[in-house]
Amino acid sequence: MVVRIKRHPAGREEFNVDMEPKATLLELLIKLKEEEDPTLTFRSMCRAGICGTCAVKVNGKPVLACSVRVENLGEELFIEPLEGYRIIKDLAVEHETIYERLRLAKVWLMPAQEYEVLPHHLERVSRSHECILCGICDSVCPVLQTGSSFGGPLVLTRLYKHLYDPRNIKQDLENLFGLNPQLCTHCMNCSYACPKRLMPEAHIREEELLLVDKGLLRKESGGFEFLGF
Ligand code: SF4
Ligand code: SF4
Ligand code: FES
Repeated sequence: MVVRIKRHPAGREEFNVDMEPKATLLELLIKLKEEEDPTLTFRSMCRAGICGTCAVKVNGKPVLACSVRVENLGEELFIEPLEGYRIIKDLAVEHETIYERLRLAKVWLMPAQEYEVLPHHLERVSRSHECILCGICDSVCPVLQTGSSFGGPLVLTRLYKHLYDPRNIKQDLENLFGLNPQLCTHCMNCSYACPKRLMPEAHIREEELLLVDKGLLRKESGGFEFLGF
């Protein structure tokens, strides 16, 4: 198969490589690194779709390299880094912006009381617990790419589980309000692209409605309006 890779900072490079059809895209990259070019740079850790580090674009589609088989990708591949992140080298992009966004939005549990958490308490948020911070949803979000004050699908999906956690009574809605979920256009790019099928857009829709329910946002027929704190 023919594999073209967008190299940074040096343009693109083409390889001809034989791969087992069942091999993953990550195994292909490892083979190229071991047999063709040891300077080829990409991220990976778990090789099992858990750590979220190996996201790249292949033939225009963002994927987890360890979770797709080459037999499903076609005979010619063009592999690029994810969009929306600073490229460190070749396919490796900087993830610090993800952690910084989470830190600024205070996306963590703030328990204020002892509370027995029962399984049914977490049913509603079980999907958002499965986010692996791969960054794919943010990379395909048109609103986030405009540099607006929108928090983005990754942060809003991660925040969702804390909003409904019964231990988390200190987690007020000010964080959510500041992330402007109402700026989401509901284009569904994030939900289609998420490799864990977590439906970030659906979480954002619920978060908007939560702000409406609490009287912090007004939903007009044409969109949302701020009411402010
Ligand atoms: S649905 Fe909303 S959050 Fe998701 S990609 Fe579209 S604008 Fe971004
Ligand atoms: S919501 Fe999905 S696409 Fe976004 S970071 Fe989490 S796992 Fe990745
Ligand atoms: S290497 Fe961990 S998710 Fe792909």
